[in-house]
Amino acid sequence: VFQAPTGTRDFYPAELNRLRYVQDAWRRTSVNHGFEEIDGPTFEHLDLYTVKSGEGIVSELFSFERFGGEKTFALRPEFTPTLARMYASKAASLPKPTKWFWMQNCYRAERPQRGRLREFCQWNCDIVGLPPFDANDPEGEARAKALVDRELLSCVIDMLRSIGLTHADVRVKFNSRELVTGRLRAIGVGEDREAKVLALIDASAKLEKAELRQRLEAAGVSAEAWDRLMAVPAVQDGVAVLEHGLDRLVGMLVDEMPDEDCDWLQYDPGIVRGLAYYTGMVFEVHEASGAERAIAGGGRYDKLIEMFGGPPTPAVGFGMGDVVLSLVLADKGKMPADAEVARKLGLNPDAIVVSNGSAEADGAVAGVVASLRRAGLHARRSSKKIGKAMQDAAKVGARFCVILEGADKATVKDMGTQGQEMCGVAELVGRVARQ
Ligand code: HAM
Repeated sequence: VFQAPTGTRDFYPAELNRLRYVQDAWRRTSVNHGFEEIDGPTFEHLDLYTVKSGEGIVSELFSFERFGGEKTFALRPEFTPTLARMYASKAASLPKPTKWFWMQNCYRAERPQRGRLREFCQWNCDIVGLPPFDANDPEGEARAKALVDRELLSCVIDMLRSIGLTHADVRVKFNSRELVTGRLRAIGVGEDREAKVLALIDASAKLEKAELRQRLEAAGVSAEAWDRLMAVPAVQDGVAVLEHGLDRLVGMLVDEMPDEDCDWLQYDPGIVRGLAYYTGMVFEVHEASGAERAIAGGGRYDKLIEMFGGPPTPAVGFGMGDVVLSLVLADKGKMPADAEVARKLGLNPDAIVVSNGSAEADGAVAGVVASLRRAGLHARRSSKKIGKAMQDAAKVGARFCVILEGADKATVKDMGTQGQEMCGVAELVGRVARQ
């Protein structure tokens, strides 16, 4: 027998329904927040990723050659480069800001482990461009960015909330690349060593103490400098902050943010993001105990659009994978049972149609099922005995069980109220139709 390749998944119906349940929440939240869906190719020219994704992702590309090695392609490890390419080539005709969402599979040749696969589904929301702001106000642009950042954060928080999570379950940990760069310069790390130290900060939470110490030494960062990099000022309860930069970042971000959203936020100096293109606010969504890998990650990437040939356009976005989110939902008992998932997706039958066993009723089943289906209803026929058919109806969450009592009479049992009544076969469609 063949097995699925390492790090990929087969989705049998119940599993696919659980993925669809998550995707439904993603889609509903995106639409409610004013994002429009886009898509691009599953593979791109390899260069698209080597230019600006950062080493981590490039070393995990599934790449392949065609046309005698003339062209090299790679399966998409993420969507942001495609989005930047798409925006850049139509920038002049797109609204400001442009709000796009995307949800499809990504491919990374990682070592599979809990929360990490080689094929996974990712949901992205991105806001490209800024709303108009007062160019005479020295803080106008920064304010416009903070407003858009808030809009993006409220979208990710709303999605988590809508699927039943609370800020006791998960946290939105944020930081700023500008602030980190400032701190790096303050401890003497110049542009040449910046990428290396950023990668180290990004990996630090997953490293053993001894290994971290060793890697810091190799990168020329003293223990004292590391403490300064990772200092957490008491911003949450309004106590003095360490730097003016942080004060401004936090102030602009959380001013005007509803308390319900603020409660999910937590400043974390260890969040810098592994990808090379981030320039400003960065964030990750983590399970509260910190046990799992990130549920989502994103941030501001103000230089990427112009790097892909578009006009200078600030942008911000995030990606959320289905793998860790599903683990967290299951662990916290927030993934509904199979029948409930099917019901929420509208996949439960409107009616199970069964015969009472008489020859007339047996002969009417096919016609009744066909007429229900022609009326746009989800009808299934059961060849079992009434009792068993009723059990099946309950199990799959059917709304009604229709027992044919002859060629033109039926008992309609409401599986919700458990009430039942007789009706003519001609009235069945009207009885079963969703209001
Ligand atoms: P990322 O942090 O590489 O960001 O991925 C975002 C999320 O995708 C992760 O938090 C995780 O949930 C999921 N993910 C990533 N790799 C895997 C994997 N191997 N297996 C399972 N899940 C995974 C980006 O991809 C950015 N392009 C996000 C972004 C959009 N930034 C701006 N716009």
